[in-house]
Amino acid sequence: MNVERTLIIFKPDTLQRQLVGRILARFEDKGLRLVGLKLQQSARSQVERHYEVHKGKPFYDALVGFMTSGPVIVAVLEGPQAIDVVRNLLGPTNGRKAPPGTIRGDFGLDVQYNLVHASDGPDTAEKEIALFFRLDELVSYQRVTDRWIVSE
Ligand code: RTP
Ligand code: MG
Repeated sequence: MNVERTLIIFKPDTLQRQLVGRILARFEDKGLRLVGLKLQQSARSQVERHYEVHKGKPFYDALVGFMTSGPVIVAVLEGPQAIDVVRNLLGPTNGRKAPPGTIRGDFGLDVQYNLVHASDGPDTAEKEIALFFRLDELVSYQRVTDRWIVSE
């Protein structure tokens, strides 16, 4: 099975709206394994690098302002095909268009305030994890439940 790691960021709206526990529970419920987790106030330069593909777009300045407006929680999740699995759990960017059952569909009404970021491919996942975590901040381990979550 193709075990992947993906970076997620609980954006400032998730912390301000006190939704961290409920959203983290969605990832735990799915069976994904937490291998990194920390609270931080992001530096502008880090957010600019993270979202550099959007530089020059109309929403870029607002996005950088939003992502540095308060604390975030960054995390690394691990599991089979974790990158696609997590993007599907989030749903589309715009909370108004995201279907019920997705995190953005269930908790959001906005395109910018969409609660959680997740890596969108293997290359971006690797780059983003390295941008937010040192190697010694990530922990590899097994859970006793793992053999009841993944059969292959
Ligand atoms: P993310 O990178 O945060 O996981 O979100 P995404 O892939 O679904 O969306 P992306 O196109 O990468 O956009 C990055 C973030 O910028 C904000 N945004 N605002 N006002 C707008 O039209 C607009 N479009 C995007 C959102 O916070 C989006 O998640
Ligand atoms: Mg994106």
